[in-house]
Amino acid sequence: MKRTIFFKLIFSATILQFSNSTWAQINPYQYSISKTAKGSNGAVSSAHPIASMVGLEILKKGGNAFDAAIATQLALAVVYPGAGNIGGGGFLVAYTEKKKSISIDYREKAPAASDRNMYLDKNGNPLMELSQNGHLASGVPGTIAGLFSSHQYAKLPFTTLIQPAIDLADKGFVITAAEARSLNGTKSAFIKYNSVLPVFVKETAWKEGDTLVQKELAATLSRIRDQGAKGFYEGETARLIVEEMKRGKGNISLDDLKNYSAVQRPAISFDYKGYQVIGMPMPSSGGLLMQQMMKMIEDKNIAAMGFHSPSAVQLMIEVERRAYADRAEFMGDQDFVKVPVKTLSSKSYLKKRMEDFIPGKATPSDIIKPGNVNPESEETTHLSVADEFGNVVSVTTTLNGGYGSKTVVAGAGFLLNNEMDDFSVKPGVPNMFGAVGKEANAIAPGKRMLSSMTPTVVVKNKKPYLVVGTPGGTTIPTSVFQTLVNIIEFNQSPLDAVNNPKFHHQWLPDQVAVEQDFSPSLQQSLSNMGYSFQKRGQIGRTEVIKIEWQGKKIKQMDAVADKRGDDHAAAY
Ligand code: DON
Repeated sequence: MKRTIFFKLIFSATILQFSNSTWAQINPYQYSISKTAKGSNGAVSSAHPIASMVGLEILKKGGNAFDAAIATQLALAVVYPGAGNIGGGGFLVAYTEKKKSISIDYREKAPAASDRNMYLDKNGNPLMELSQNGHLASGVPGTIAGLFSSHQYAKLPFTTLIQPAIDLADKGFVITAAEARSLNGTKSAFIKYNSVLPVFVKETAWKEGDTLVQKELAATLSRIRDQGAKGFYEGETARLIVEEMKRGKGNISLDDLKNYSAVQRPAISFDYKGYQVIGMPMPSSGGLLMQQMMKMIEDKNIAAMGFHSPSAVQLMIEVERRAYADRAEFMGDQDFVKVPVKTLSSKSYLKKRMEDFIPGKATPSDIIKPGNVNPESEETTHLSVADEFGNVVSVTTTLNGGYGSKTVVAGAGFLLNNEMDDFSVKPGVPNMFGAVGKEANAIAPGKRMLSSMTPTVVVKNKKPYLVVGTPGGTTIPTSVFQTLVNIIEFNQSPLDAVNNPKFHHQWLPDQVAVEQDFSPSLQQSLSNMGYSFQKRGQIGRTEVIKIEWQGKKIKQMDAVADKRGDDHAAAY
């Protein structure tokens, strides 16, 4: 049985038309949210209805999945400022109609003036306020470089792809209740971390149906349209970023910006029972963690245990624990440190890793320091796109925390990331997601901070089958893991696979985070095995597209958007 959640947001705002008739079909002043969509020509699932609609329009106009992914990301930078961004970074994983796996790394980098102890006081105590908020928390943004790098696979001019975002910023769009809540909740931080008040601050409280106009952002996007990546990394925008840095004691320089480049890397690819799983390599831990977790359950016949049976969930918790312990010890930017990827993903290593697994009994983590998980600031965003040609694109992009550093570049209208907190500021000191790390993820100038983002594509018989990803900090790999296991092993529809309650273990702290609707009796069974629990608001906002083929033709794309937010699926 398929469930369709559909609710309408009726806004009282005057309906204006976009200047450019190309986008007239999208009404940013009145729109509805749909959690499922089916079609055979193209599909987009993202965190915001307007962004998904922009992506779909691009597909309808002859763009491919790369075009749509670029336009959707740019639209998200306007309509979903908490995570959509041009001042952050991200990762793209794709599988093309030519059967090529691609990964593009546009992760932020530590500025040249960074050093490993920059967030420690003179006694060596961590100063998390500095790594998490304000100017010094920002790495050199990678998003615009990433979009131009992915454009080599696209078909339409970049100017076409960015225009909807410019129009949305210039003319405004109406915000949802969730966006109003989130902007109101961040008001004091916006005031604290900005020398010039950004448009996100308004005297009275934001409410559903209010129009958000971002003129400065529109001007920045127009510079990028007219000058390409240089419109961001050089000239006026770069000058505004560096001036902002000077006002707030940040350390991103003109050279940092000019020297930034996105990197195309060989994607991680592994076989799971005949499915080819394609993921992001370092500096994201996502692809390798997926490989470790999937491979550790592969020989266990988890399907026979049953969905959310105590034995299946216990097995998954234990593989999550083991993979995350490796993350903390070994993973970081491979351009700077040697990550033993070959060993960590080898059959013999993973077999050995499971030797101390005892069914029915928790294996305690070697507790060093309990993590300080902050479930409030979960703002990254994922989009999944598929086109009629057989290209699929999976992108996860982020400012890190909600609204990143909370600092807006004055005059340029966009938020900067607080991605520096993803480094290990000191061995064993948990970051905002409770993740600990060591040398492999220590800060160094020009280094990329370790990520958990897990944009993923699953290929069956050399044809794209699933496009998956989610935000959620360290819960990202476990959410993607559970979504894949739910579909592949427990035969669930993408909608059920996404919406079913999630759980998460990350080695430290040694507890299982569960969503509010996680079954109490299952929790009791697991408690009896020795697990302790922490209730979480929500885990992930997963966007999935499943593609069914009939010979060489696409029969149906089933796009699903997570119930946990304003996420919206579009297809035709
Ligand atoms: O790259 C990472 O792993 C984190 N910066 C992602 C942050 C995130 O997912 C926050 N939100 N949900």
